[in-house]
Amino acid sequence: MPELVRYELRDHVAVITVDNPPVNALSPGVPEAIEAAVARAGGDPDAHAAVLIGAGSTFIAGADIRFFETITTREASLERSRAIHTRLRRIEDCPKPLVAAIHGTALGGGLEVAMACHYRVAVPSARVGQPEVLLGIIPGAGGTQRLPRLAGAEFAIEMCTLGQHIPVTRAAEAGVVDRILEGDLLADAMRFALEKAQSDGVRKTRDRNTGITDGAAAVAACAQARHGLKKTARGAHAPYAAVDAIQAGIELGFDAGCEREIEIFAGCVLSTESRAMVRLFFAEREAAKVPDVPKDTPTREIRLAAVVGAGTMGGGIAMNYANAGIPVLLKEVTQEALDRGLATIRRNYETSFAKGKITRDHLDRTLALITPTLTYDGFDQVDIVTEAVFENMDLKKVTFAELGRVTKPDCILASNTSTLDIDAFARASGRPAQVIGTHYFSPANVMKLVEIVRGRDSSKETIATAMKVAKRLGKLGVLVGNCFGFVANRMIAYYMREAYLLLEEGASVSEIDHALTKFGMPVGPFAMQDIAGIDVGARIRQHLRSIGKHRAEGPESPVPDWLFEMGRYGQKTGSGWYRYEPGSRTPIPDPLVDELARKAATERGIERRAVSEDEIIARITTALANEGANILQEGFAARPGDIDVIYVYGFGFPRHRGGPMFYADTVGLPTVLERIRRYHDQLGDHWLPAPLLEHLAHTGRTFYGSQAG
Ligand code: CAA
Repeated sequence: MPELVRYELRDHVAVITVDNPPVNALSPGVPEAIEAAVARAGGDPDAHAAVLIGAGSTFIAGADIRFFETITTREASLERSRAIHTRLRRIEDCPKPLVAAIHGTALGGGLEVAMACHYRVAVPSARVGQPEVLLGIIPGAGGTQRLPRLAGAEFAIEMCTLGQHIPVTRAAEAGVVDRILEGDLLADAMRFALEKAQSDGVRKTRDRNTGITDGAAAVAACAQARHGLKKTARGAHAPYAAVDAIQAGIELGFDAGCEREIEIFAGCVLSTESRAMVRLFFAEREAAKVPDVPKDTPTREIRLAAVVGAGTMGGGIAMNYANAGIPVLLKEVTQEALDRGLATIRRNYETSFAKGKITRDHLDRTLALITPTLTYDGFDQVDIVTEAVFENMDLKKVTFAELGRVTKPDCILASNTSTLDIDAFARASGRPAQVIGTHYFSPANVMKLVEIVRGRDSSKETIATAMKVAKRLGKLGVLVGNCFGFVANRMIAYYMREAYLLLEEGASVSEIDHALTKFGMPVGPFAMQDIAGIDVGARIRQHLRSIGKHRAEGPESPVPDWLFEMGRYGQKTGSGWYRYEPGSRTPIPDPLVDELARKAATERGIERRAVSEDEIIARITTALANEGANILQEGFAARPGDIDVIYVYGFGFPRHRGGPMFYADTVGLPTVLERIRRYHDQLGDHWLPAPLLEHLAHTGRTFYGSQAG
């Protein structure tokens, strides 16, 4: 077995290299080996100082996340945390200057190890962070204690509650990193370490309090942070726990603070919140792996791209390519539409520039990668085309027939359809093996999710290339099957159906929205629809009715169609489910909508009643999980985790609840099944349990457990 940590003496510096691919995580054996190497450096008469560095592409990216799920008791957690705390103290007690040399990322336990070193140096591209909160836990190896001592309470609170990976320049300004090194990291870090051996010597972070000289101000910052979290944490517990641990260290001192951190960590690591977020971490990465498309499937090199349609979606997709440095042709039919599309793109970049996110030079260079055109000239050179024309089957067929003619034979033909049957227009291109759906979410230049829709004939090479392109564009691609609405929009139909029916039964628009935001959604279903446009759903329903279909099983509420007929499309028309004052996006409840709901209830013979918040959540989340189970069984999603990733990234389902499928697992599938049966009796035949859900509930399994079994 290769050594996890190597020790080497070079020019009077002990070089300690962590070598645990792919990200040098602190798997069992690694912290022990680091401690042993540091002890060796301390006793090595030829070593004047020591440097801790990571092999490969990164410093230590944190604890090994796979092991969190193996901690099943509070005692086990306490024991494990105490052991790592003790190790870090011993490392910090090294009698010779110990320098952490950071490249790639120093995250979580990685940053905590670095803070136990006496100094930290880094390359300019490095990033550091305490992302534990994104796993439902808090830093568990002294991060909540050492970070405020280096950089102050406010900075530590920000790092530990948001979990962002911050650029090293900011970390240096805050005092977390001592020097940014532009040259060879190891050589410069060794020089820095020898310099310290001759000047300042060792410097223990735990003995410093540069960051918290004013204890009262630090405690006030904690109080303020808790207040802010009411809005931003969206029901998650870990961010509050991190603030509690930081405050304990400020008030009680380092040793007692560490003990509090250890106890608080134990509470977090055993929580459902943490289990949910850890599952999601792995689900996000699993989503990139398509079961029947091996890793070594050949993929096309994408050097030049094209987008057809410069509307909101087409423009956003073109921006994605330009942002990734890939030149892109952007085609429209009329000069007016092209100008409008380009103006929106320019405005988006100008906004980023105004906010200081990009430089003028970057703006100019990126915009120059987008070539507007009214013809197919140059399409014979492109490697991938994304069609983003109006959502109309006839138009898609014509467009794909044209694309089949004007592009080179191996060009990938992608469609940004959000609902339509890929196979129906893939054939029109004459080469359906190269056709694939790439369903971006709006705004396409911002939202990370892309549903990659596999057509009947999509080749493995086409699928692998589409997944690779998504990654290159900085997106999270999830492969789904070709059913109406794919996964995201198929499920949202059930989510909205339940919201409409609850409205008719007696809940108000704001009660339903409030229940869901309290549950952790960023916006409720009605506010969301006012943003997306009531007309969008109404047109889809019209189209479906014209072909004798409907979006979701069960009664269709007439209320959204009435709003559509009244021209109330949502924010863009100043009214929808809510009304809006001119120039404002603040939703104001509108009694007219209550009247419409009453009218619909009367027409359908529904006796209105008070509906509790719990019922709203139970009905809506049950509808989602049940339809998710159908999707899984029908094979339109490969794994429950894929559905969860889609719902978390596509619609903001609270991460700390893991996604609709994980959430159903935590509620308990027998309970979910019992609810469905009750709804069936009370509300109608459309409430039928998905066979997969029924089977799992009867056999005592879960969605995620069924995957393992
Ligand atoms: N533990 C175990 N596996 C990890 C890991 C970790 N901390 N970080 C990454 N991996 C694995 C991934 O699962 C993935 O495995 P597969 O290839 O088998 O799918 C592989 O490493 C590569 O990861 P990515 O695909 O994410 O690679 P990337 O280059 O896009 O990103 C990264 C690298 C920025 C380090 C990213 O992986 C990441 O953010 N990792 C998590 C970091 C983190 O949260 N650290 C804190 C852990 S908690 C902690 O440390 C608690 C404490 O206080 C002691």
